[in-house]
Amino acid sequence: MKRRIVILGPPGGGKGTHAKRLVEELGIIHVSSGAILRDEVERASDMGRRVKQAVEAGDLVPDDIVIDLAISRLRRAGEATGWILDGFPRDLDQARLLEERFEEGPQIVIALEVPENELVERVTGRRTCPNGHIYHLRFHPPRRDGACDIDGLELTARSDDTAEVVRNRLEVYRRETTPLIGFYGERDLSAPVDGSGQLDVVYARVRATLDRGPSQPG
Ligand code: AP5
Ligand code: MG
Repeated sequence: MKRRIVILGPPGGGKGTHAKRLVEELGIIHVSSGAILRDEVERASDMGRRVKQAVEAGDLVPDDIVIDLAISRLRRAGEATGWILDGFPRDLDQARLLEERFEEGPQIVIALEVPENELVERVTGRRTCPNGHIYHLRFHPPRRDGACDIDGLELTARSDDTAEVVRNRLEVYRRETTPLIGFYGERDLSAPVDGSGQLDVVYARVRATLDRGPSQPG
């Protein structure tokens, strides 16, 4: 069955971590708007400079940039066995646009719920490799200090992972992204999942929620 999943949640909520695991398990494509935008920053184009400014402040990247990038990646993923969207849509305009441009929308919207006091520690302790593999200094350390278990590449902190920028990202999440839970709730697609507690425990909840389907608390 072709799976079409959206995963929502606050900064540090575990979207990327669980999306990657689902990709391995289900053979679907991971479409992460944050990763697509970080690639654009690396390119150091004019567009990349606009993206960098917004990302490093913790603000949303303007729609004219993000929508085309995310949608073209999604179109390329269209032929695959399915997809998981992580970080997109991020506000009501993006969600409406996704509906307009795609006949096949999400079948389920996993909404991770994590208390704010857990998020800052998760984000400030996060380390990633250039291929986007995700670790945490305390909760998910690599086998060898500073190096990715999978490809051996150097692990670094993201430039937007400072406590100050995280506070703004959280504010933007509350204001712009949480209305999506109601938007998808009206379409019987929302599936809240308790995202606090150990990584494996949360993943098991996500997995059980996917099997059960939307509109049931996980
Ligand atoms: P994006 O990259 O999407 O960042 P985010 O939404 O802030 O989310 P994060 O990636 O920080 O967290 P995550 O939920 O993926 O958590 P993770 O699994 O890594 O976006 C970045 C920026 O790009 C935005 O601020 C914006 O500027 C721009 N942008 C992106 N999309 C956009 C869009 N659609 N429109 C406009 N602008 C856009 O986990 C975090 C850490 O916690 C890891 O270290 C992990 O190991 C650890 N962890 C995870 N789960 C647990 C657990 N249960 N227990 C302990 N540790 C855990
Ligand atoms: Mg992420």
